[in-house]
Amino acid sequence: MTYSIIDHEFDVVVVGAGGAGLRASLGMSTAGLKTACITKVFPTRSHTVAAQGGISAALNNTGDGDDWRYHFYDTVKGSDWLGDQDAIEYMCKNAVDAVVELEHMGVPFSRDEQGNIYQRQFGGHTIDHGKSMAKRACAAADRTGHAILHTLYQQCLHHNTEFFIEYFTLDLLMDDQGICRGVIAWCLDDGTIHRFRAHMVVLATGGHGRTFFTCTGAHTCTGDGNAMILRAGLPLADMEFIQFHPTGIYGAGCLISEAVRGEGGYLTNSLGERFMLKYAPNAKDLASRDVVSRAIAIEIKEGRGCGPNKDIALLHMEHLDPKIITERLPGMHETARVFAGIDANKEPIPVQPTVHYNMGGIPTNYHGEVTCDSKETIVKGLMAIGEAACVSVHGANRLGTNSLLDLVVFGRAAALRAKEIVLTDTPHEKLADSITNTILDRFDKTRNAAGDLLTGHIRTNMQQIMQTHCGVFRSQDMLDTGKIKLEECIKTLENLQVNDHSLIWNTDLVEALELQNLMVQAVVTIHSATYRTESRGGHAREDFPERDDASWLAHTLSWCDANLNVKLDKRPVHMYTLTNEVEVIAPQKRVY
Ligand code: FUM
Repeated sequence: MTYSIIDHEFDVVVVGAGGAGLRASLGMSTAGLKTACITKVFPTRSHTVAAQGGISAALNNTGDGDDWRYHFYDTVKGSDWLGDQDAIEYMCKNAVDAVVELEHMGVPFSRDEQGNIYQRQFGGHTIDHGKSMAKRACAAADRTGHAILHTLYQQCLHHNTEFFIEYFTLDLLMDDQGICRGVIAWCLDDGTIHRFRAHMVVLATGGHGRTFFTCTGAHTCTGDGNAMILRAGLPLADMEFIQFHPTGIYGAGCLISEAVRGEGGYLTNSLGERFMLKYAPNAKDLASRDVVSRAIAIEIKEGRGCGPNKDIALLHMEHLDPKIITERLPGMHETARVFAGIDANKEPIPVQPTVHYNMGGIPTNYHGEVTCDSKETIVKGLMAIGEAACVSVHGANRLGTNSLLDLVVFGRAAALRAKEIVLTDTPHEKLADSITNTILDRFDKTRNAAGDLLTGHIRTNMQQIMQTHCGVFRSQDMLDTGKIKLEECIKTLENLQVNDHSLIWNTDLVEALELQNLMVQAVVTIHSATYRTESRGGHAREDFPERDDASWLAHTLSWCDANLNVKLDKRPVHMYTLTNEVEVIAPQKRVY
């Protein structure tokens, strides 16, 4: 079918309206750039809304001597030395201003007795290089992401960002010189197809948690921007690094915030033991997430799991003062009631490590510019920010609360860079029609897919393969078997059935397109996990239990062609800082 196309011209197009997309859109709009923000869900339904425990910044409101350099140290250590230290310096140094800016924009942070922003403990955040736990997580009760997202959306409206809401972006318009010239999007509401020309496209499309079966992420977390990157022949970075949050509700997968442990909660096994004392004698239940998730997995593997199937741990908050629960953890109490059917004031919550965050994504520098090889060559006209991007500040393991910070710091950084390099109101280069036609051919083929297998069937198969073969612990055999199963699963895409061929509110087609996006990311994830023959952060190889800095102080780059063949490469970690205000932290043994 030939589609008629509605054309738009902007200086900048931001794809995604979560925290990163909104902060970038706000910065671009206030810089005078004509900015469109395209989003497949209503902005305040973006997954940032689900972020709970806080946003990190060394405000030192508790007077415990916190400093952004401690935050820098913790983040480097948390990343298991895979984080780029220039980018980590940039993030931690800008954290304090970023949070104060949010406060001034109107984010309703909780308050301490002096009226300052309330700060709580979170895993892996310490004072004086691990000597004591820091109170660094700035919180709006346990709904911090919700508060930030609503405030940023209001600010964007105030500053005239133009929103295209419930538009599904199909692909990037890449010209024959490899420059990004815009995107093609499908308006879900009326079925029209739109071509957005832009001097800069910013991908803020979030993570791809839904490649796995149990996941704290929304069903919309399908990494659409990452898949666009792969289809454009560009690489993703560090895709093997999947973060399992220790406390997803058993079965449902919904997140129970680390804030529960930050306020004094703790985990036990079937013997009633506080097992984290043996895995992390100093930080205990507030060790880094990869450490706590592995500890739970070991307890379960060694037969000390709770519940009828001995496959869960128990998270206790019933000993906490009910006033603290009402004031600081109201959402957690409600989530436990709705999704586990228990009263957390009285009983422990059944939890299991659950996929929560993707450390890997679209490789960028700390300005948000996308890079495409081991020499970090910049792709013109293209930026990526937030969970879609791999800056890389989180390296092999992200510290809780560093995600909200990443969104606002690098959303702002991208806007600052765009202001420098985009000339507003300049004409757009002519673009060959074949570029648009290739994108619409794929769309049309999917819309008319007439096989026998429903999207949900193929998706569940893919998710279970990833969950079983690319989980908390991995090994060559496990990954190789997973790769073979995934290849079989990919072949079933040829037999996809889309029943609804219409263009208006066709959720059948949306899910089919999302499945195609997820599948390419599952492929590069499992290949990258096989490639990295060491254990580091969230990537634990039973057959290579040690970190190997001699071979692997490097980011993985992965490409995937139209036939789903994968190419892999590495690029060195940035072991340098931007200023002399902080010193590079050389790799050390990582203990908590
Ligand atoms: O546990 C949490 O509240 C999650 C926070 C985060 O992922 O940063």
